[in-house]
Amino acid sequence: MSAAALSSLACPSDNLLSPDYTHWCERIGEQLHAQGAVLIAHYYTHPDVQQLAVDTGGIVSDSLEMAAFGRASQADTLIVAGVRFMGETAKILSPEKRVLMCDIEATCSLDLGCDPDEFAKFRARHPDRTVVVYANTSAAVKAQADWVVTSSIACELIEHLDARGEKILWAPDRYLGDYVRRNTGADMVLWDGSCIVHEEFKAEELAKMRNVFPNAEVLAHPESPPGVLAVADVVGSTSQLIRAAATRGADGYIVATERGIFYQMRRQLGPDIKLYEAPTAGDGGAACRSCARCPWMALNTLEALDRRLRSGGDEIEVPAEIAERARRSLERMLDFRNQVNPVA
Ligand code: 13P
Ligand code: SF4
Repeated sequence: MSAAALSSLACPSDNLLSPDYTHWCERIGEQLHAQGAVLIAHYYTHPDVQQLAVDTGGIVSDSLEMAAFGRASQADTLIVAGVRFMGETAKILSPEKRVLMCDIEATCSLDLGCDPDEFAKFRARHPDRTVVVYANTSAAVKAQADWVVTSSIACELIEHLDARGEKILWAPDRYLGDYVRRNTGADMVLWDGSCIVHEEFKAEELAKMRNVFPNAEVLAHPESPPGVLAVADVVGSTSQLIRAAATRGADGYIVATERGIFYQMRRQLGPDIKLYEAPTAGDGGAACRSCARCPWMALNTLEALDRRLRSGGDEIEVPAEIAERARRSLERMLDFRNQVNPVA
């Protein structure tokens, strides 16, 4: 890509609230209240959905804090605006609550790429290893794991297990797994999965972009390829990247993750700090300049949320026996989170 094309990857202009946001907020807010429901949204959803979660007493956060918030919530109904594994996690941790997805078709390439039966065979080939799975998996895969983990605490957990002399079987994201392995030196065997959004970021183009914006720092989610992570100043989960942007004091940030994150970054940074999308095009790369858009997160719209609240449906159910086994590995993750970050 030329310098001019790279310069045009400024913060996407669609990271704003819709003009009719207030109308929707009142309409949906009433329904949430009437049904004793709370909205739990991920940072990759549309700004309207993120803001609505905050304005109605819910939360917008990374996947780890979504899980912790859902478990602690007193609400009878949790509405999850994110992808299916987040809804399943909420249901497993709070079986007594009704858990609805904004759109139950919202899934994740990591979850789709880790079939529970194939995973069972993989595990059987490595019986001596501690099984650690990323939260972006089905309940049936979590039920086979010793631990669930998110990118917020992946390095800390693997370091902890490595110090106890444990060898790890990791699934499904090979890029996150490889990043953790390089950072901890742990003995890890990796499943071969990836995120269709993050694997499109291009290291060479990113390096060129750094030269175009020498005062900007690079922030990358660890689901990105190793060449992208090598160029990054900060590698972290969505909440860690937002915190880094708010605290590092650079003139600008080039961000390698799903573009929904720009809404929170812009809110925290104000209008003067420059934000750029990391490039996804390049020689032999994707056709668009930046494809950093998760097609499943995009299903979470205000209209879908309104329909869900008025006509029901898209309720998450997890078979009891699977839920019981998956709960053990999820509870371990949350207990570990409390040890690592007791104030969170
Ligand atoms: P976080 O745990 O960082 O929120 O990431 C979830 C996710 O799906 C990243 O693509
Ligand atoms: Fe899954 Fe990637 Fe979408 Fe995150 S961005 S939900 S990892 S497909």
